[in-house]
Amino acid sequence: MEFALRIAAWQGRHGRHDLPWQKTRDPYRIWLSEIMLQQTQVSTVIPYYQRFLDRFPDLQALARAAQEEVMPYWAGLGYYARARNLHRCAQEIVRDWDGRFPPDAAAIATLPGIGRSTAAAIAAFAYGERSPIMDGNVKRVFARHFGIAGDPARREVETRLWDVAEAQLRDGAGRDVDMAGYTQGLMDLGATVCVRAKPRCEACPVAETCTARREGRQAELPTPKARKASPERTTGMLVLQREGRILLEQRPSPGIWGGLWSLPEFDVAIAPADACRALGAEPGTVYALAAFSHTFTHFRLHVRPWYVTVSGDPPSRVQPTQWVDAGAAARAALPAPVRKLLDGLFAAGLPESVMSR
Ligand code: ADE
Repeated sequence: MEFALRIAAWQGRHGRHDLPWQKTRDPYRIWLSEIMLQQTQVSTVIPYYQRFLDRFPDLQALARAAQEEVMPYWAGLGYYARARNLHRCAQEIVRDWDGRFPPDAAAIATLPGIGRSTAAAIAAFAYGERSPIMDGNVKRVFARHFGIAGDPARREVETRLWDVAEAQLRDGAGRDVDMAGYTQGLMDLGATVCVRAKPRCEACPVAETCTARREGRQAELPTPKARKASPERTTGMLVLQREGRILLEQRPSPGIWGGLWSLPEFDVAIAPADACRALGAEPGTVYALAAFSHTFTHFRLHVRPWYVTVSGDPPSRVQPTQWVDAGAAARAALPAPVRKLLDGLFAAGLPESVMSR
């Protein structure tokens, strides 16, 4: 049996079947799941997916909402450009496509933030379209099976991978394969069998024809990227407390955490009390909280948070601000590490303000 047929048959028996987005052919729901799954694992996505659909059950509901209403449903998932693009897509589909999801992968790929592979996955699941996908896991499957060496991020290597993937659907029995099963099968194989370290070749439906296996090159393929050290940045953060409330500031968009509510940041070369005065608030007690780090795609952020009790007028800033108690903080769209920090502080009871009059 051929590559595509074997993988589709394997998916039927050994792949994942009970995921919420597998019970529908509604392109809106499938699109949402694929965007959420782009950089986030299945178990994290499931509750977000359900909450999002309860609030925005269809494309029209999403397009009608303001971006501020959408962000809380993404807070904690990371890669917030995904949520901003999702919202822009919904408005574009209402405006340019009469509110109907575009009918094929080529049209879907013209929407903001949707690449060729995601467009093909949506079209395969929603419409059964015969278009190949090529995400990170799937590149590994093809690079190994077809013995394609070279960094898959390089243009000519990527072109070869896409060409081979297309050939599996064009030639022979691949023309008749069930596209939803095959597409999900490739993803499942990459996630559970053809994994990066110690692939489980004994469980693989295409082991017999696999180049890497035949030549014992599973560890060499795909060729690893020549890695540059990721840049690092350190920032101070102020947890300003006044009368039992904490000051949040909305992050500028676009940018890291754009549109979310976070803590005011300051240059660590400046003393926290001075940073506080620069915001227009008079510092009382000042003490250091535990430092932490957060990894983004392109850099690592080291955060030194300071807890400062303040009195006086709310600081005036360029970005919108709000003072929140525990309840309002719980409802706000916070980045995951900031949520963790504030949850811990509120749970412990905020240390006394210097003057609650
Ligand atoms: N990652 C991206 N798309 C996925 C899907 N449909 N199922 C599981 N993981 C995925």
